[in-house]
Amino acid sequence: EKGLRVSDKGFLNTAVLRSEITFIDGDAGILRYRGYPIEQLALHSSHLETAYLLLYGSLPTKSQFKVFETEVLHHGVTHADAEQFCRSFRYDAHPMAILTSAFAYLGSYYGEANPSLQGQNLYTRGNAASLEIMDKQIYRLIGKATTLAAMAYRVRQGREFVTPPTGFSYTGSFLYQMDHLGEENYTPNPVLEKALDVLFLLHADHEMNASSTTVLQTGSSLVDPYSAIAAGCASLYGPLHGGANEAVIRMLISIGKPENVPAFLEAVKKREKVLSGFGHRVYKTSDPRSFIVRKTADEVFKITGKDELLETAMALHAAAMKDEYFIKRKLAPNVDFCSGLIYRAMGFPLDFFPVLFAVPRVVGWLAHWRQMMLQEGGVKIWRPRQIYVGAGKRDYVPIDERV
Ligand code: SDX
Repeated sequence: EKGLRVSDKGFLNTAVLRSEITFIDGDAGILRYRGYPIEQLALHSSHLETAYLLLYGSLPTKSQFKVFETEVLHHGVTHADAEQFCRSFRYDAHPMAILTSAFAYLGSYYGEANPSLQGQNLYTRGNAASLEIMDKQIYRLIGKATTLAAMAYRVRQGREFVTPPTGFSYTGSFLYQMDHLGEENYTPNPVLEKALDVLFLLHADHEMNASSTTVLQTGSSLVDPYSAIAAGCASLYGPLHGGANEAVIRMLISIGKPENVPAFLEAVKKREKVLSGFGHRVYKTSDPRSFIVRKTADEVFKITGKDELLETAMALHAAAMKDEYFIKRKLAPNVDFCSGLIYRAMGFPLDFFPVLFAVPRVVGWLAHWRQMMLQEGGVKIWRPRQIYVGAGKRDYVPIDERV
């Protein structure tokens, strides 16, 4: 085994790289994007401005942001390139399945996934031509994320796809593509548009979470970014990760009234049930995003009215936070605990919630992918080792002699 050390189950306490993008202090409950505290960005920035920060390392000037926003919207809002593809799914296909496959499909459509482009290690040259191609793919993937999400939403309703007029923000264009039913002068409710933009910003990146690691593991073979993003999207889909916002609502619906919370928590302690939206691999005091989500929820409920599940969620939160079982295991609410209540209040269908996590997370996935492609010394393929604990050497036995 030549001195190999098995990192604990699930990469516990294992650093796979050095990064300049996102800083998390799990004990102090700190989250910063390129050094800026998440609380300040949520208050003063927008998702797309924060996307620029995560990708390129500094807050954009007015002209830099204008170019970035124009490119993202220009490369993103058309749906013709994936119309047939998205309509090929069954009417009840889970939108995450559509989104995951559509990302991989895009690469073939634009021909930027073809082997010839990869042959010369295009991405790792870092020269002007390759940086230009990388940026165009980044613009397209961020722009397309909202369009493909809206298409997955409308496929199920048998609705036509719509293209937002110019002048809408990134999040406003998304809401237009989701909700526009041909009414004159559609504009999204500004409070709801702002709330969704804050949620996008909060979900933009989170250092080496399972899906970002998947993107880098996949991208390390120098495959195109569309395929790497599709792999990350598949990882995010799971209920232990981005699928938790959907699982929280299903959990709250199954609990029903607040008076059922104690019995539910007992079942969790007996490991018969999972307390979704609680716990985190890194945060051992609190997830700083959860406080901002909670505040945003109050803003949204002023417009939409309170969700009847809120009472149960608050009763569950209060009971778990003072229960020895959860305190001992340092379990606190994470970003998914309240976000689903907002999406529900805004009228999104339950199985669409993980899509609302994946759309903004495309930014973080691409920021890490770009950082890896341009790293000093080029890209090393990610190929971990194992400790073999299986059978020793043995000889083949013909089937007639086996008992
Ligand atoms: C996200 O990594 C990221 O940064 C992710 C994310 C991001 O932005 O990318 O922050 C987004 O995915 C947030 C997490 C969303 N998932 C959920 O809410 C699902 C419920 N949470 C758990 O599945 C769990 O807490 C995880 C998956 C989030 C973390 O799991 P870990 O770090 O592997 O922790 P663990 O399973 O080793 O738990 C330690 C102990 C265990 O008890 P013991 O076996 O030691 O007795 O805590 C218990 C676990 O059983 N535990 C829970 C629990 N989470 C952990 N018990 C009840 N309910 C829970 N939610």
